[in-house]
Amino acid sequence: MSHAELDQTAKSILIENDQGGYTIPTKGLYPYQWNWDSVFVALGFATFDQDRAWREVEMLFEGQWRDGMVPHILFRKDDPSYFPGPSVWGTDGGPIPSSGHSQPPVAATVIRDLVNADPSGKALERAAALLPNLMNWHSWFLTYRDPKGLGVLAVIHPWESGRDNLPDWDEALRAVEVKDIGPYERKDTSHVDPAMRPHKEDYDRYLSIMAACRAVDWDPAEVARTCPFFVADPGVTFIFLRANRDLLSLAEQLGKTEEAEEIRGWISRMEAGARTLWHEELKAHVAVDQRSGKMADGVSSAAFLAPYAGLTGDETLGALQAHFDRIAGKVRYLMPSYDPDHQSYEPLRYWRGPVWAMINYMIARGFAEAGDLARAEKLRADTGGLIAASGFAEYFSPETGAGAGGGTFSWTAAIWLAWASPSHTQQAA
Ligand code: GLC
Repeated sequence: MSHAELDQTAKSILIENDQGGYTIPTKGLYPYQWNWDSVFVALGFATFDQDRAWREVEMLFEGQWRDGMVPHILFRKDDPSYFPGPSVWGTDGGPIPSSGHSQPPVAATVIRDLVNADPSGKALERAAALLPNLMNWHSWFLTYRDPKGLGVLAVIHPWESGRDNLPDWDEALRAVEVKDIGPYERKDTSHVDPAMRPHKEDYDRYLSIMAACRAVDWDPAEVARTCPFFVADPGVTFIFLRANRDLLSLAEQLGKTEEAEEIRGWISRMEAGARTLWHEELKAHVAVDQRSGKMADGVSSAAFLAPYAGLTGDETLGALQAHFDRIAGKVRYLMPSYDPDHQSYEPLRYWRGPVWAMINYMIARGFAEAGDLARAEKLRADTGGLIAASGFAEYFSPETGAGAGGGTFSWTAAIWLAWASPSHTQQAA
């Protein structure tokens, strides 16, 4: 397929997965609105329909909880082909049935991009309407995912990280007692190959964490205090730190001085905290279990998001460049979600090795901003190459480039349109 044909296919995927203002990740496997999927999808829509891009984000915030949380899934209609559905979550925090935790907060960054892409001033008005929602959501993260004010955000469930079965969660997850789950039937393994999905032992624990949170009615302070899983995640932490810088710029553009002052405080807190995730021997930022104090021992793709978060000190950047080159010598396509030199690496099992397009996009953005255009371009070329060879898959093998998981995937299509497509760079040039 030519690049122009791929552009066309990518657009049709977004249009096909559009449910009338919000987009599902893919038919069958993921039939609802997912938080960070939607936000990346907005970037894709923005390349041909700005208004539709805004709708995507606005509809996501329609599901915001009274306490400020923006859920990871909005169940706008019941779909029996998905498990666990609304009745298993048992939440009552917002206007739309939803899951009970959040997902990486990329929204402020993308909203700023949408504003910058529209000189008419209309986009800034739409951003102004969402500013209070963003402030509340960010403040919710700081209150309930960093209750001790450490400057790092924890996730209460592997799914909250968006990187479901990452090896970094293994140990903390094993410590979760399996209870209160009853018999259940997974649906994911009937849509795609079970060899590419999390194991049953993981799934039992995913559901046990949900049961524990249901037992405290998803009260966020109680969840922070008692949830059996509470692990500081460099991915969410870096994405949040970056999002605060973009939120600050929006607040300044809108003349919101009080908000701007508050956000500056959040940024300093996060900059200080991020250092505590630095693993001295590995020379990378890793997850830290907040219950046991244990640090993970592998380099995940989230470590490469430090520059995206604005952490571009020489030690960090130099160490990441060295890891980048070492890993590039091991696999054909960057960036594997987990270090191929680590014993837990599996090239086709979801977040234990495969390449994800939107992670590459964020890593490349940070590297480019830090002045490392060559590595940023390598990521763009690899992402484009994977899609050209294997289509708009959910994720890809770093070794063979084979596409895996769900097909006709919305965020892969969106990232192609917004960044990886050579036609896009030709237009920009
Ligand atoms: C999986 C991914 C998560 C994504 C969701 C929908 O759960 O791990 O990041 O948001 O699928 O695509």
